[in-house]
Amino acid sequence: MEKDSVLMEKIISLAKRRGFVYQGSDIYGGLAGTWDYGHLGVALKNNIKGLWWKKFVDDRRDMYGIDAAILMHPGVWKASGHVDTFTDPLVECTKCKKRFRADQLEKAGICDSCGAPTGEARNFNMMFQTQVGAVEDSSATVYLRPETAQGMFVNFKNVVDSFHPKLPFGTAQIGKAFRNEITPRDFIFRVREFEQMEIEYFIRENDWEKQFEYWKDEMIEWMDIVGIDQSKVHELEVEKEDLAHYSRRTVDFEFDFPFGKKELYGLAYRTNFDLNIHKLEYVDEENAQKIVPHVIEPSFGLDRTVLAVLLSAYNEEEKEEDTRVFLKLKPSVAPVICAVSPLLKNKPELVGKAEEIFGMLKKEFGRVMWDDNGNIGKRYRRQDEIGTPWCIVIDFDTLTDNTVTIRDRDTGSQIRLKDYELVGYIKDRLN
Ligand code: GAP
Repeated sequence: MEKDSVLMEKIISLAKRRGFVYQGSDIYGGLAGTWDYGHLGVALKNNIKGLWWKKFVDDRRDMYGIDAAILMHPGVWKASGHVDTFTDPLVECTKCKKRFRADQLEKAGICDSCGAPTGEARNFNMMFQTQVGAVEDSSATVYLRPETAQGMFVNFKNVVDSFHPKLPFGTAQIGKAFRNEITPRDFIFRVREFEQMEIEYFIRENDWEKQFEYWKDEMIEWMDIVGIDQSKVHELEVEKEDLAHYSRRTVDFEFDFPFGKKELYGLAYRTNFDLNIHKLEYVDEENAQKIVPHVIEPSFGLDRTVLAVLLSAYNEEEKEEDTRVFLKLKPSVAPVICAVSPLLKNKPELVGKAEEIFGMLKKEFGRVMWDDNGNIGKRYRRQDEIGTPWCIVIDFDTLTDNTVTIRDRDTGSQIRLKDYELVGYIKDRLN
């Protein structure tokens, strides 16, 4: 992989310039650890979420969707252990007073900013607090959820009562989570407000090893579906002493980001810790026995997925005159499936025919862009940079024989197709 910060700068600059991701609250100087997604970034995220929901919910018979509130009763976080243990070690520089996460300093005990010694580490709770209602005392304190998981555990009984599922079964949720990270960094990798896509898969205790392996394979398959470069993914067996308080086994999927090999996803065996602490149980219909199911938790960060997908797709190709940048995104995740252009924008007959084809494709695929800015070469480059798999050009031949040019992003090769063949051609490749 290309050295580090240069590649990251290219990705951040492309993301901003082309409308994927902007710094949060930018015109007020930015708010650290927050990023806003622009038109193409929203499309990319929605495509990823849609594929995830299809694979893990719609294509299965044993999965139940949840969209729980972000604000949850403080009792949830007290019981889950987050109030007492969801902390990072915080140190403050004795000289410049800057604050750091102790385990992320370049040199232990030395300030990254001015080189002076840091003070003693203390535990800093990462949950954001806010107040509900008009009374500002501690009884009104609630937390913004730091993981989507608890929203699923507290709804366990509701799901069982509504659907009477048999074990094993799961719940799935996509939503925002919030962590007051001491040092948010590396673009959308470590942020204070992010999205998670999580599954809680409820099982019988003696099945946990088999289910753990099954979910590991599912997560690997998912990375392929979304276009994450598997050669950059590594499995890390988390050491016993580093396990979260609820986990008996965790495997992290790490990705070779330009700033280092870092966690992309996590897979945890949470035992029956969560259902136990919330005093929830399940009546086994086979023998009418009450049990507290165990749980396997595949957890996917959406923003880290976006970053890994962009990094996996980023390509540069040296051309005689300059460098061609293209995002080799899978058509199913690409924000724009195809762009439609009239060869010349001042020829009404070309524009009229192009509008007709644009309307037909837009109705079929939605994610279709009209592009008549600059010459054809420039349009191709623009579309390459945002990962549009196909560019369709309407020229003078179209007016006589109804054929159009369709140009492939990855090879730059062009073929001619009849206009009525376009939908089928694209559908075949989308699936
Ligand atoms: N429910 C389990 C859980 O939340 P986690 O390892 O703390 O486990 C799961 O988080 C995933 O959420 C991570 O693998 C990562 O993809 C994502 N994530 C966690 N903290 C994040 C942050 N500050 N910024 C962006 N993504 C984050």
